[in-house]
Amino acid sequence: MAEVNLLYRYPRSKRNVTARHAQQVQQRDVAMQFGREYFDGDRSQGYGGYRYDGRWIPVAETLCDHWGLKPGDRVLDIGCAKGFLVKDLQQVCPGLKVLGFDISQYALEHAEPEARGRVVRGNAAWLPFPDNSFRAAISINTIHNLERPLCVQAVREMQRVAPHGGYIQVDSYRTPDERELFLEWVLTARTHDDPDGWKALFREAGYTGDYYWTIIE
Ligand SMILES: C[S@@+](CC[C@H](N)C(=O)[O-])C[C@H]1O[C@@H](n2cnc3c(N)ncnc32)[C@H](O)[C@@H]1O
Repeated sequence: MAEVNLLYRYPRSKRNVTARHAQQVQQRDVAMQFGREYFDGDRSQGYGGYRYDGRWIPVAETLCDHWGLKPGDRVLDIGCAKGFLVKDLQQVCPGLKVLGFDISQYALEHAEPEARGRVVRGNAAWLPFPDNSFRAAISINTIHNLERPLCVQAVREMQRVAPHGGYIQVDSYRTPDERELFLEWVLTARTHDDPDGWKALFREAGYTGDYYWTIIE
C-alpha cells in the first residue's frame, strides 16, 4: 500500500484556480454588502438584476391559503429585499397588514411603490417587534446569511414575534455533489448544512413553524 498518484497522466488544468478563488472571495465580499452590485449588478455578484415580474403572486396565494390569512392579519417578511412578496401578499389578500424587513438600504430604497412605507430596515437577529405581534412570519433565503449563532438567534426571534405561523426557506444540499455545486455558486450563505443539520438548528432555536430547502441542482 503506497501513496500513488494514478492520475499523473491526466492533463493539467489550464484554469487558474487560485485566481478564480480570489475572484470568488472578492465577489462574495461585494455580494455580502447587499448593495446595488448584489441586486442589480453583474450576475457574478448576485442576482444580475432583481426586478418585479409577478412571480411571487402564486407564492402569496399559497401562503394565504396555508395560514387562512384574512384582512387585518399582520404578516412579516424577513429578508423582503425590494418588497415583491410584501406587494403581492397585499394584492392577493387586500387588507392584510404586511411588513417587510431587510438589512439592505439599497433594496428598501428601491422597493416596489406598493411596498414603500411598509418596509423596515434592520438585522433579522434583532427584530424590533413585540412578542406574538404577527399572525405569520416568513423568511425566504435570508437567515443563512448570518453566522450560525446569529442564525439561531434570528430563528428564535422569528418564533418570538410569530409563534403560531412561521415559514423558513434556506439553502441546503442533500448529497456531496449538491454541496459542491452549492459551494461553487452561493455567495452569501455564512451558515449552511444538509436538511438534518438545519432541522437540528431549528430545534435548538425552539422553532415550531414550517421550513423547506433551496437546493441548487
Ligand atoms: C437571497 S435575498 C432573498 C430576498 C427575497 N426573500 C427573495 O427570496 O427573493 C436575501 C435577502 O436577505 C437580506 N439580508 C441579508 N442579511 C440579512 C440580515 N442579517 N437581516 C435582514 N435581512 C438580511 C438581503 O439584503 C436580501 O434582501
